[in-house]
Amino acid sequence: MSWPGGSPSSGSGAGSGQRATVGAAAIEVSGLTKEFGRRTAVEDVSFSVARGEVFGFLGPNGAGKTTTVRILGTLIAPTAGSAVVAGIPLIRANEAEIRRRISIMPEAPGLYRRLTVTENLEFFARLYGLPDRQARMKEALDVVGLGDRAQDICGSLSKGLRQRVALARTLLNDPEVMFLDEPTSGLDPVAAHEVHGLINTLRQRGVTVFITTHRLDEAERLCDRVAILNTRLRTIGRPDELRHTLFSRSIAVTTAAPLGDPARVFTGLPAVQGWRADELSAGSTAGYVLTVSDPVRAAPEVTRALVAAGADVLSITEARHSLEDVYLELVEDQEGRSR
Ligand SMILES: Nc1ncnc2c1ncn2[C@@H]1O[C@H](COP(=O)(O)OP(=O)(O)OP(=O)(O)O)[C@@H](O)[C@H]1O
Ligand SMILES: [Mg+2]
Repeated sequence: MSWPGGSPSSGSGAGSGQRATVGAAAIEVSGLTKEFGRRTAVEDVSFSVARGEVFGFLGPNGAGKTTTVRILGTLIAPTAGSAVVAGIPLIRANEAEIRRRISIMPEAPGLYRRLTVTENLEFFARLYGLPDRQARMKEALDVVGLGDRAQDICGSLSKGLRQRVALARTLLNDPEVMFLDEPTSGLDPVAAHEVHGLINTLRQRGVTVFITTHRLDEAERLCDRVAILNTRLRTIGRPDELRHTLFSRSIAVTTAAPLGDPARVFTGLPAVQGWRADELSAGSTAGYVLTVSDPVRAAPEVTRALVAAGADVLSITEARHSLEDVYLELVEDQEGRSR
């Protein structure tokens, strides 16, 4: 059984909002390591997740994301290290209490395809001994927008709709912390967008969401902070923070025609540390990329210098690095390692 459950939670229904826990952080992980025989899946990983935070866990295939989720979800024991989940120390004696306060949406939703949506939810609600089953099921289905599909056979639902049923199942026990393992894997953009909406609903309800994903745009849009893992933790921070710490800041300038002497225009400006011509500029226009200390200070300075040199400025913008750039920078040099 890979599904956490347990006896009644302190809430009175899915999303009832009662949050009776102790401790400051929702999740705290210290020196977590998991070995499967001679293979190390997760090595010396430490991080913490604040209550109500949407936290992204990124990393290539085999990086140890699901292993971490399974450890924090009390499904497997770590080889070394310690953790606090939903404010409760992760030790064997506390496992049942932790399971009451969390839920996991595993990589494979694991629904019974011959049962209806309601029968599936009922099965799991009974298995975990939840009270107020009808009310919880109705609220969970409403949250995921499946109120009118309750009597449909699960096998007849599209993949995206089944994903939503799986999400409804994770809501049944009114969790404080939700672990979503690649919740949008295989979904089309519309279905993925709907799941993002659901995650934002959970955020508004104060649920802590720990989400693993390969979709960097998704992490960038949804997550307050992200961690990039490749067996070991490579970095952690807000997406914009990571971009800034990893890459020098730059601004991109486009002019109607190439500058006669760009070095003379750009060299000596206090906010500009370096420049290069951008070979990708189109037609007769010319592009330049300037490395700057502070784009807000540099942009007017550069504009004045260009105008003084008689250039027709078409655009001047801060060049943005995406989270994808950060990710590739961090994991590419690890790609060759054995898993
Ligand atoms: N039960 C197990 N027995 C042996 N090895 C395992 C077991 N579970 C995971 N591993 C190994 O641990 C490593 C990490 O696996 P894990 O499933 O955590 O990766 P992941 O980051 O979730 O990858 P993916 O993006 O493919 O889902 C892999 O090398 C995997 O083969
Ligand atoms: Mg995985």
